[in-house]
Amino acid sequence: MSDPEILALEGVSKLFPGVRALSDVTLRLFAGQVTALIGENGAGKSTLVKILTGIYQPDGGRILLDGAEVHFPTAQHAAAAGITAIHQETVLFDDLSVAENIFLGHAPRTRFGLIDTAAMMERSGAILRDIGATFDPGLKLHDLGIAKKHLVAIARALSVDARVVVMDEPTAALSHKEITELYDLVDQLKAQGKAILFISHKFDEIFRIADRYTVFRDGQFVGEGAMDDVDQGALVQMMVGRPVDQIFPKRERLAGTEVLRVAGYDHPTEFADINFALHRGEILGFYGLVGAGRSEFMQALFGITKPSKGAVRIDGKVRVLRSPAEAVAAGIVYVPEDRGAQGTIRALPIFQNVTLPSLHVTSHNGFLRLAEEFRLARQYTERLDLRAASLDQAVGNLSGGNQQKVVIAKWLATRPKVIILDEPTKGIDIGSKAAVHEFMAELAAEGLAVIMVSSEIPEILGMSDRVIVMREGRIVAELDGDGLTPETLVRHAAGIGEDP
Ligand SMILES: Nc1ncnc2c1ncn2[C@@H]1O[C@H](COP(=O)(O)OP(=O)(O)OP(=O)(O)O)[C@@H](O)[C@H]1O
Ligand SMILES: [Mg+2]
Repeated sequence: MSDPEILALEGVSKLFPGVRALSDVTLRLFAGQVTALIGENGAGKSTLVKILTGIYQPDGGRILLDGAEVHFPTAQHAAAAGITAIHQETVLFDDLSVAENIFLGHAPRTRFGLIDTAAMMERSGAILRDIGATFDPGLKLHDLGIAKKHLVAIARALSVDARVVVMDEPTAALSHKEITELYDLVDQLKAQGKAILFISHKFDEIFRIADRYTVFRDGQFVGEGAMDDVDQGALVQMMVGRPVDQIFPKRERLAGTEVLRVAGYDHPTEFADINFALHRGEILGFYGLVGAGRSEFMQALFGITKPSKGAVRIDGKVRVLRSPAEAVAAGIVYVPEDRGAQGTIRALPIFQNVTLPSLHVTSHNGFLRLAEEFRLARQYTERLDLRAASLDQAVGNLSGGNQQKVVIAKWLATRPKVIILDEPTKGIDIGSKAAVHEFMAELAAEGLAVIMVSSEIPEILGMSDRVIVMREGRIVAELDGDGLTPETLVRHAAGIGEDP
């Protein structure tokens, strides 16, 4: 391919205290091409994005734009040079409007130098429509859900007229429909001759969207090439340094006693008439299309939102769950899909984040037993394949995927009776996915009851003993054994071939 090279990184390194995040890496981006950057959690991908966008300064190496060396002492310098990014964790402002968030720092001005609100609204509306978002740019950000906030972040990146567009796991927070719109948008950007860097843990999407790949492992460059010349196995081998078999853990199906029974759970708008039972040692999958009401129901069960009616029995006793604290006390914990911002205290070390909700286990007469806290944290983080320099490290300095593992570890460490995992392997690399699945299987074998909400069919089929399918807020099927196939799942979730 003869597309011109727009941007190149040569021998770039970045050190943090105790961590060499990048050592001597190379990256090349070409006009009109999508380059996928692939690597495990903690491989250095987001660090590289921050160097490219002037947020971090490299400790060595060069950045070349059109063949000439450039320096980006601040984010403004990188933006002025035509580089824009959708970051893995975006900073947006809840009290500002959608349009103000999109144009913060570069709003259109009137000839008197004032912010031209009308122009800003109009241009925001146009960018949002381009990415298939139909909401009003005048809305305050705090009125939007996570998927829409993410679309605002994407619109913000596109509001800068850039030559290089960097996307760090842009689809992790989006629904099916929005993901399709994003792919169309990437195709448009390509056609306009922009160079795109695309970071993702989803191989189907990498093969759908990328022209070239670059692989990093432990902060080092491992290889690059054309997507046409590789298959998934070869990429995984480069990424992890060993072949990874995508085999799910073998499990005996245990017919334990009933631990949870939900009867007649109803919500005025989100879900209706939810009835099911869950048993010790069981993994119960919840499948559905995004928007089917699964997460909304789980949040109600955990006491975050209130159902208008319905009853929960735990070990046969009726329990009222009006708050997460009451749910935890009753033995139910919920690990949300959005494990970023709310899930952890960024400034605290890993071990304290993990043990925070379990302090009754580790405190003795009011004194925290540090050794005990460390032991508990180590036990859970090791089993989830968490990669960190030490358990003293602040959670805010971990890579995105490793922060997700901290949140899972923290809730598992409370030793609940029932754990609800919402998209447990989202944002987690392919090697660590197996560790998370293995751990889930072990916990089930020890008698924990697991509810797993997942939109990934292989994960649903590979892990669940039984699957409940939801559509438009209702349970439409319960499948197990031979009745559980990819076809039956999709048919029920989409409502195909049923009587009206
Ligand atoms: N500000 C920081 N201070 C200290 N260490 C950091 C900081 N930022 C990143 N690191 C470390 O640098 C390494 C690379 O992290 P990075 O976020 O670049 O990984 P990543 O490839 O984006 O992973 P993921 O797939 O999980 O998002 C990790 O070991 C991380 O803990
Ligand atoms: Mg990252």
